[in-house]
Parts: sequence; structure tokens; C-alpha cells
Amino acid sequence: MIRRSILLGTGSALPARVVTNAELAQSVDTSDEWIVERTGIRTRHIAGEGETTATLATDAARAALDAAGLEPQDIDLIILATATPDQTFPAAATKVQAALGINDCVAFDVAAVCSGFLYAVTVADSMIRSGAANRALVIGSETFSRILDWQDRATCVLFGDGAGAIVLGAEESADGARGILAAKLHADGRYNQLLYVDGGPSTTQTVGKLRMKGQEVFRHAVVNLASVLTEVMAMAGFVPADIDWLVPHQANARILDATARKLKLPAERVVMTVDRHANTSAASVPLALDVAMRDGRIKSGDLVVLEAMGGGFTWGACVLRL
Ligand code: UT7
Repeated sequence: MIRRSILLGTGSALPARVVTNAELAQSVDTSDEWIVERTGIRTRHIAGEGETTATLATDAARAALDAAGLEPQDIDLIILATATPDQTFPAAATKVQAALGINDCVAFDVAAVCSGFLYAVTVADSMIRSGAANRALVIGSETFSRILDWQDRATCVLFGDGAGAIVLGAEESADGARGILAAKLHADGRYNQLLYVDGGPSTTQTVGKLRMKGQEVFRHAVVNLASVLTEVMAMAGFVPADIDWLVPHQANARILDATARKLKLPAERVVMTVDRHANTSAASVPLALDVAMRDGRIKSGDLVVLEAMGGGFTWGACVLRL
């Protein structure tokens, strides 16, 4: 028998407030035209008072549990990917755990910025396949609006807040045809200084603000994403043309287009939400997955590939048969 992690449900949560490009153009020297042409972004959600990484994560987790038809007590593992936790510690995952009323399960955060959800899914899948967990909540949740420099037009227009969650469950079958078929992660710390936050508890004792050399990140993103996608598809015994749905990290519509072109994948098979969510870092992949599951595009039996690249650099991809 082959033990695999099966996708049981997805959910997401977005802050109530929607901010348009035109609104941003009132406070920084930018325009709707520039933002749409260079990034594809039209709107983003921005967290308000009382909305935090942990509250958004909890709402997304509840929606994913509902979709899976499960109760909080069915969960024995929570992994939350975030670069914007409510506090330095405790882990935001334990806040979600408490809010859901789960008194005993494994709960921790992973920090891999925009690739965080791919890192979290890969760790959850390993724990499920090893028998260390049976039902996992895997969440990506961020409030990047709180670490943006709102005077820096090169970064403040690019990001939004939100959360996405999935429930993974163990299933044993003779052929192992369903579930997570392959996952691959990478990191290369030589590129720390291209995308980082200029503060932290052990250096400045401040939270800091996001800094990015966008053009250089863009170039690396297209190369690394095409490469890890081909690599993970080969691990699962497929080629990129076999992909039914690519659910990529939503950083920039031009990165999605360039990656799809490099893989010769039709744009219709790429899920795109960057226009309405902007870049929500670790939340972007599960948010996009939830949108495409709920609108009926992704169906049972489809071959779905998730991918992301972010600060570190970190990047990764995973192949999943629904
Ligand atoms: O999630 C982690 C991964 N992150 C990413 O993948 C982000 C990757 N990078 C990008 O998406 C793009 O590089 C950006 C969207 C950040 C920038 O687009 P670009 O086409 O690379 O523009 P650029 O940085 O080369 O800037 C072009 C011009 C500059 O002006 P000059 O020097 O040509 O006069 C910028 O100052 O656009 C200017 N600019 C802006 N103008 C209006 C930069 N930001 C803005 C803005 N509005 N918001």
C-alpha cells in the first residue's frame, strides 16, 4: 500500500478593505496605468484594525475545515507559513490552534517568505507519509501591509494581505495515484540582499520594512520557477505539458506569463489572481487554489502544480493529483 497526502478541502480569508491603484496614486507618485502594465495588479485587500495574520489564518482554516467536512478536533498538525506573524513568538500557528479550540496537536510556523506555503506543504506531506500526522491544516497567511514602506512606490503598490488554507489527510491505496505525488524545495542564501526586511529582533529590535531589487528578483524568478517545475514534474513521471492547472505564486502577471511561455503551457491553464489580491506572499498560492477550486475550474482527477519563489532566495514546487 502507498500512503499519500490527499487534498480534503481549501479555504481563504481576505480583509474587508479593498484598495485600488487610483487610491494609492493619491499618496505616492504612481498611476493605475503603470501598475496594471508592469504587474497586472488592479486591487489588493489591506488589513484593518483587529485583522491580523492569525485572525485571517483562523478564518481561512475554518473555511477549509468546512469544505473538508471535518471538525477542528480531527486535526493533529497545523503548519502556518508567514513572514508577518502577530508577534515574534509564540508561533501564529498556536494562536490558530487556540482559536479553533484544539487543545493538543503539533503547531508551528515556517518562514520562507513567498515560498512559505510550498515549504509548509512539503513538511506536512513528509510528516503525513511518515505516519507522524494524519490530518493537517496547512496555512499561508500574511499582513505585508504592516511591513511596507508606504513612501516607496517601487514596493508598496505590489503587495496585499490575506490567508489561504488547505486540509491534507492520509490515504492508503494500492496505486498511490491520488494526492501529493512529488515536491521539491530549494534555497540559495547568496541572494539575501535582493529581497529582505531591514529590521528584526536580533539586529535592530524593530520590525523593519520590506526592501526589494525588483528587476533582479524578476529575472531569477522566471529561471528558477521554470527549472523547479520541470524538475518536480520529472520526479512525478510527467512533463510540463501534462499539467491541467498551474497554481503559481502571484507576484506579477508578467512572471506568470513568462513562466508559462518558457514551459509552453497555455495561459488558460494558469490560475491568475494577482489582479485582485496583488502579492500576498505565503498566502498567494493557497488563496489562488481556493478561488479555482470554488469556481469549479479545478476538478477531481486534475493534475495540479503549485509553485513559488521568494526572499532568501527560496523556491519550490509540488505536483498533486486531485
Ligand atoms: O514575491 C517575491 C517575488 N517578488 C517578485 O517576484 C517581484 C519581481 N519584480 C517585479 O515584479 C518587477 O520588477 C517590478 C514590478 C517590481 C518592477 O517592474 P520593472 O518593469 O522591473 O520596473 P523597474 O523596477 O525597472 O522600474 C522602471 C521605472 C523606474 O523609473 P526609471 O528609472 O525608468 O525612470 C522606476 O522608478 O518605473 C519606475 N517605477 C514606478 N513608476 C510608477 C517603479 N515603481 C513605480 C510605480 N509607479 N509604482
